[in-house]
Amino acid sequence: MDLATEIVLPGIVETSGLEVRVRPMPAPGSGQALLAVEASGVSFAEQQMRRGKYWDQPAFPFVPGYDLVGTVLRVGPGVDTALVGRRFAALTKVGGWTSHAVVEAADLVEVPAGIDPAEAETVVVNGITAWQMLHRRARIRNGQTILVHGANGGVGSTLVQLARHAGVRVIGTASPRHHQAVRDLGAVPLDYRAPDLPALVRALAPNGVDAVFDHIGGDSIVDSFKLLARGGTLVSYGTAATKNKPGSSRLPVLKLIARLQIRNLLPNGRHTHFFNVWAGKRRAEAFRTRLRTDLTNVFALLADGTITAQVAARIPLTRAGEAMALAESGTVTGKVVLVPDPEHPTDTRP
Ligand SMILES: NC(=O)c1ccc[n+]([C@@H]2O[C@H](COP(=O)([O-])OP(=O)(O)OC[C@H]3O[C@@H](n4cnc5c(N)ncnc54)[C@H](OP(=O)(O)O)[C@@H]3O)[C@@H](O)[C@H]2O)c1
Repeated sequence: MDLATEIVLPGIVETSGLEVRVRPMPAPGSGQALLAVEASGVSFAEQQMRRGKYWDQPAFPFVPGYDLVGTVLRVGPGVDTALVGRRFAALTKVGGWTSHAVVEAADLVEVPAGIDPAEAETVVVNGITAWQMLHRRARIRNGQTILVHGANGGVGSTLVQLARHAGVRVIGTASPRHHQAVRDLGAVPLDYRAPDLPALVRALAPNGVDAVFDHIGGDSIVDSFKLLARGGTLVSYGTAATKNKPGSSRLPVLKLIARLQIRNLLPNGRHTHFFNVWAGKRRAEAFRTRLRTDLTNVFALLADGTITAQVAARIPLTRAGEAMALAESGTVTGKVVLVPDPEHPTDTRP
C-alpha cells in the first residue's frame, strides 16, 4: 500500500511534542488533486497554533502547515488531467506538513518553471499577504516612505523587497542581530525594542510615514498610528505581542479591531485597516482570482530575480519540531522550509 507521512499537532505542546504519523495515501475526490509535497513552510501561525492561540484553528489533533508547493500526481473526477506532473502552490491554512496533500484543484496556483520549490514556498502565504497589504490596502506609490515592523520575518522580508521594487523607501524594525540582513534587503534598520523608536522613525521621516505595517498588535498600534503622515495608512495584521500570554485566542484580535476602528473616526486624514488574508473567501470565485493574480505577480518577480527568496533553512519534514524550534528562536531571517526527507525522497512521478 502507498503511504503518506504527516506531522500531527496533538494538543498544546512544546516543539518536541509534534508527532510523525504514517497513513494510507489519500485519494483525490471530485474537483481535487493529489500533490507530492516538495516544500511547506513554518509560519507564525503554527507558533500560535501550538499554543492554542490562533484565531480559528481546528480542534486538536490536526496536521498543521499553512501553505505548500508540490507536483500533481493524480487528479479526481472533473479535473483536467493536464495538471498531472506540473508544480503548483496552495494556501491551505492547515494540512501542509505532509508528504502528500489533497487540495481543491481550483485553489492551485502554478509555479513558474525554474523556481526551486523551497524558494517558491517562501512567497506563498508571505507573498500574498505582503502584496495585498502593499497594493490592495495601503496602495503604496513610488517615492513614499513606509515603516515595516519585523522586517527580518517571513512576511516582513517579503514586504521590504516588494516595497523597494515599487520605489518606496523602507524603514524596517528588527532585533539588532538582523540589522545587516534588513539593510541587505534595502531597508533602513531600527531596533523594535528601542524605547525611543518613534523618535528614531521621526528623525528619518520628519513628516511621518505613508504607511505602517504592524504585526505586533496591542499597544504597538498607538505609536504606529501616531507615526503616520496625513493621509497615511496603518495596516495591522497580527497580534504577535500576545503569543505567550494566556487566555482567549480571539479576544486580542477583537480588541485590536475595535481600537483600529476608533482611530478611523478621528478627523486627521489617517486610516487603519485590519488585514486578513482569508477575507472575502465566501465569494470563492473572486477570492481565488485575486489570490492567483497576486501570487502570480510575486512568482514572476522571484523568477526574474527582482526579489530573492529568504530561505532561513531547509529541514526534512520528519524533523518538523526542530524546524519549529528554529523558527521560534529569534535567530532567523526569512522562512524555515520543510522539505522531503532525504532518506525518503518524494517521488513526484505520476
Ligand atoms: N493577517 C493575516 O492574514 C496574516 C497572514 C500572514 C501572517 N500574518 C502575521 O504576520 C506576522 C509574521 O508572520 P511570519 O510567518 O512572517 O512570522 P515569522 O517569520 O516567524 O516572523 C515573525 C517576526 O515577528 C517578530 N516577532 C516575534 N515575536 C514578536 C513579538 N512578541 N513582538 C514583536 N515582534 C515579534 C520576529 O522577530 P525576531 O526574529 O527578532 O523574533 C520576526 O521579525 C505574524 O504576526 C502573523 O500572525 C498575518
